[in-house]
Amino acid sequence: MPTGRPTDQWGNDVTAAGADAVGALDKTLMSYLALDRQTGPLLKDALAADPDMVMAHCLKGYFFLLMASGPLRDRVPKVLAAAEAGLEGATDREKTHVRALKHWLDGDATGAVKTWEEILADHPLDVLALRLAHHAYFYMGAAGGMLSSVERVLDAWDEGAPGYGFVLGMRSFALEESGDYGAAEEIGRRAVDINADDPWAVHAVAHVMEMQGRHGEGVEWISGLQRHWNQANNFRYHLWWHRALMHLGRGEVDEALRLYDESLWDPDSDEYLDLCNDVSLLLRLELLGVDVGDRWPALAEKASSRIDDRMLAFIDCHVVAALAAAGQIDKAERMAGEMASAGGIFADVGAIVSKALIAHRTGDYPAAARLLGDVRDDIVTIGGSHAQRNLFNLLLEDAENREA
Ligand SMILES: [Fe+2]
Repeated sequence: MPTGRPTDQWGNDVTAAGADAVGALDKTLMSYLALDRQTGPLLKDALAADPDMVMAHCLKGYFFLLMASGPLRDRVPKVLAAAEAGLEGATDREKTHVRALKHWLDGDATGAVKTWEEILADHPLDVLALRLAHHAYFYMGAAGGMLSSVERVLDAWDEGAPGYGFVLGMRSFALEESGDYGAAEEIGRRAVDINADDPWAVHAVAHVMEMQGRHGEGVEWISGLQRHWNQANNFRYHLWWHRALMHLGRGEVDEALRLYDESLWDPDSDEYLDLCNDVSLLLRLELLGVDVGDRWPALAEKASSRIDDRMLAFIDCHVVAALAAAGQIDKAERMAGEMASAGGIFADVGAIVSKALIAHRTGDYPAAARLLGDVRDDIVTIGGSHAQRNLFNLLLEDAENREA
């Protein structure tokens, strides 16, 4: 039934001042899917076109929470209030997005995922709900959820729908994390054929190659598409990280260290994924016996700004690792204690992994092995990819070897 409202490019009704505002929202969403640097400015355009647009405020709140930073989280209540101000005339889909934003802000990622799934049940072309659910499942370590979420909506999508390649990219990554490497590679390559400017799809195929130990092919794949993904926002550093891992797989530690200095390390970045990439690569190099020199203090300085965040246990473990590696054991121990007090996944897994990281750093290998052994089967629940969490397997192996 016609509602008189403009529709976005996927046919969803949008409450907005006019087609211009919705056009700006469309562009913002496509930019977000492409992990493009213009996403923030495009959202500003959308809000300039309609300062009351519920979906634009929602998107702003989502983007702040995607950054997983305490100071940005603290700005979300105001954004949520701006979204709620427009609820009276909003559609059910928009109201449900606002509800999801509230769940997420409250730290209830499970509630947020359920709410995005509610939207997808009625609006399978709501690519924002799809991508956010994908992200949230990822940080729950729920590969099965990630896969079924995207597969449930596939029938509604075809090559004619804007952003179809991005959906294939998500499906590819979900298949990879579910261990179906053959299908993941085939679909990831198709996604890149449709749209090479999709760093997430490039990344999904890189993961397949990492998991299958195809390091030479991995370097070629990542390098061959560099002109596309190296235009992306900070996610590009994560692709550099993957390339560095491929070099580690080939025993080329000097090249990995060179990439750390020249392509991964960004002194101006305060993004969590960059911190995790950097910590993870330096630790892996050390586990291979490489002296990483004086690189830890600068990383620990960045980590220090995240000590009180408690956004994701996955991030917190990397923060503790950086502090401990820089010799700031007291700070690291205090943070591990605060994670233990925070309850939930922070206490059940994050604090234990953190204590293990400190024990490993201070040479208490039996304690590191015992602690990591205790949570070995639960580490998946802090989220991240198999390749990222493999760091903890490597630490456990190292602790066991040194203990023996
Ligand atoms: Fe990755």
